Amino acid sequence: MVAASPSSALRIVLLGPPGSGKGTQAEILAQGLGVPAISTGQMLRDAVAAASPLGLKVNEIMAAGELVDDETMADVVRERMAADDAQKGFVLDGYPRTLAQAATLQEILGGAGQRLEAVVQIDVPEGELVNRVLGRQRADDTEDVIRQRLAVYHEQTEPLVAFYRERGLLRDVDGHQSIEDVSKSIRDALVGAG
Ligand code: AP5
Ligand code: MG
Repeated sequence: MVAASPSSALRIVLLGPPGSGKGTQAEILAQGLGVPAISTGQMLRDAVAAASPLGLKVNEIMAAGELVDDETMADVVRERMAADDAQKGFVLDGYPRTLAQAATLQEILGGAGQRLEAVVQIDVPEGELVNRVLGRQRADDTEDVIRQRLAVYHEQTEPLVAFYRERGLLRDVDGHQSIEDVSKSIRDALVGAG
């Protein structure tokens, strides 16, 4: 993999359904690259825990497994990506999730003379996703809410696969392996990116 440096910053998106390992792999990959992992889900959960105005606005939406509106997410991401540590690259986990968000991301990056280097799609069979998420204890991890998050993924986020494939950015990775093997597959998929 190309090392992250100011001249060859790596800007990566991890795409995949709930429980596919985006958060797990974003941390590992970001650490290896020396760039921040930016998880919009975690940022929103932090806002809910802090009962900030953003948290109060998104609490019920997240608890229902629905998506927070694109405009609110644009504000969250725009601010986070303007931070110093994000200038050397980043691994995005959970954004973009709609075609409108993908357009916003392009606009934010384009405005800064930047672009995405790769979008990694993590594939995991649906039964395994539900088992993994049920093995965790997050507020939005009840079976009904997971089913809803999966339905929302298929309807609103899956179209991004074709969107990024058409742009030559998509890399497919088998997420139904050990955490270490998924990390290795992601590293292999990124050879030559950047
Ligand atoms: P978000 O936090 O992004 O949730 P999600 O996409 O549903 O995904 P998860 O975090 O559940 O799974 P993951 O893919 O990160 O997997 P993980 O590594 O945890 O979003 C939450 C909510 O916020 C959304 O529903 C929405 O309301 C809102 N939101 C966020 N972003 C938004 C946006 N852009 N627009 C609008 N709304 C937004 O792994 C899962 C479990 O499996 C863990 O226990 C882990 O230890 C385990 N595991 C991981 N890898 C493996 C492996 N290889 N083998 C076995 N177990 C594994
Ligand atoms: Mg996550």
